[in-house]
Amino acid sequence: MKRIKAIYPGSFDPPTNGHLDLIERGSKIFDELVVAILRNPEKEDPLFSLADRRKMLEAMTAGFDNVSVDTFDGLTVDYALRVEAHAIVRGIRAISDYEYELQMALMNRKLQPDVETVFMLPAEQYSYLSSRLVREIAQLGGSINGLVPELVEQKLREKIDVAHKFANSEQPEGKTPSEGKKKSRKKKV
Ligand code: PNS
Repeated sequence: MKRIKAIYPGSFDPPTNGHLDLIERGSKIFDELVVAILRNPEKEDPLFSLADRRKMLEAMTAGFDNVSVDTFDGLTVDYALRVEAHAIVRGIRAISDYEYELQMALMNRKLQPDVETVFMLPAEQYSYLSSRLVREIAQLGGSINGLVPELVEQKLREKIDVAHKFANSEQPEGKTPSEGKKKSRKKKV
């Protein structure tokens, strides 16, 4: 019997409960699901290193027998072919996601007609959740409880504590705290 393998590509910076929800749903309908982290996203400065994101996703998915985590470079469809996947899973939270996702899915189909894109809907409570908002809320001191798994929350807190300490120690005389932070943010922590 044919086994259906899918990849779930993304930046996962950081992985959220919305990603986890989709992984769980995907693991139920595909025989095999590979969570594939893009190595060099256009986004120049990810908050978490690739190794950190991989570790977090591996811990989050440890309970699923048919889910694995990998990283990839280049075109998603080329990666899908390399690992012999039949489908690309993407989550659609709201209609606003649809335009971008549709464009990407159609372009991927043009590049590689044999790989299908499957859109999946996360649970309603995650329909407004995004990695970008999680990063922003955490960096500005808001609560991200319930938005990300506990281990991600812990990692975010550690990262932001280090960034704040670094910013405070680097703050040049006569600069406002925000100016000091802006300057140090360029350096990776
Ligand atoms: O989590 P994201 O940032 O929304 O994921 C976007 C991702 C990684 C799926 C997309 O940027 C991608 O597929 N990048 C790989 C390069 C590629 O295949 N580009 C052509 C897309 S049509």
